[in-house]
Amino acid sequence: MLENLLHDILSIDVVWLILLVLPAYVANSTPTIFGGGMPMDFGRNFFDGNRILGDGKTWRGFAFGLSAGILTAILEQVFLGGIFLWSGCVLSLGAVCGDVIGSFIKRRMNYKRGAPVPILDQLTFIFFSIILLYPFIPLSWASIVFLLLLTYILHVLTNIFANKIGIKKVPW
Ligand code: CTP
Ligand code: MG
Repeated sequence: MLENLLHDILSIDVVWLILLVLPAYVANSTPTIFGGGMPMDFGRNFFDGNRILGDGKTWRGFAFGLSAGILTAILEQVFLGGIFLWSGCVLSLGAVCGDVIGSFIKRRMNYKRGAPVPILDQLTFIFFSIILLYPFIPLSWASIVFLLLLTYILHVLTNIFANKIGIKKVPW
């Protein structure tokens, strides 16, 4: 079983897969730089007394993230052709919405804005991207496992880097 999965992972077209999900990565990282202003929950609380989403999810971040992801998809389509435009749009939408859903879950679990929650912080955006794309492009189990692992590692490394160069207050 594990041997089969490993074999399948080794036979993935990694370059194609990374190009496919690139818009989701761009959509997820842009809000860190361009986010701010009005929170998406307008400062309101949920029934449990905690914020619905918290100050870390802003309309500007959402709009910039989605736009940057779609722009990446357009550029990929122009230079590489194939199916990158619409898959990139679907993945970008999944990424920004998944990130919001992640914060909603964090607030329900009583974690304050910015508190580190392993797995949830790194993987909700890519998880929802993959789910939203699934009806159109059903990625194999091996591809999904590979993407989750890759995303986790990249997320941890890029956040440490973003913290070092001063665009993120905390290294997670
Ligand atoms: N950001 C934003 N709007 C979004 C998503 C992110 O403005 N829709 C910005 C915020 O400045 C946020 C930063 O990007 O602080 C990093 O995003 P993230 O780590 O997802 O938010 P956290 O502040 O950690 O909040 P949470 O605990 O809700 O994940
Ligand atoms: Mg965070």
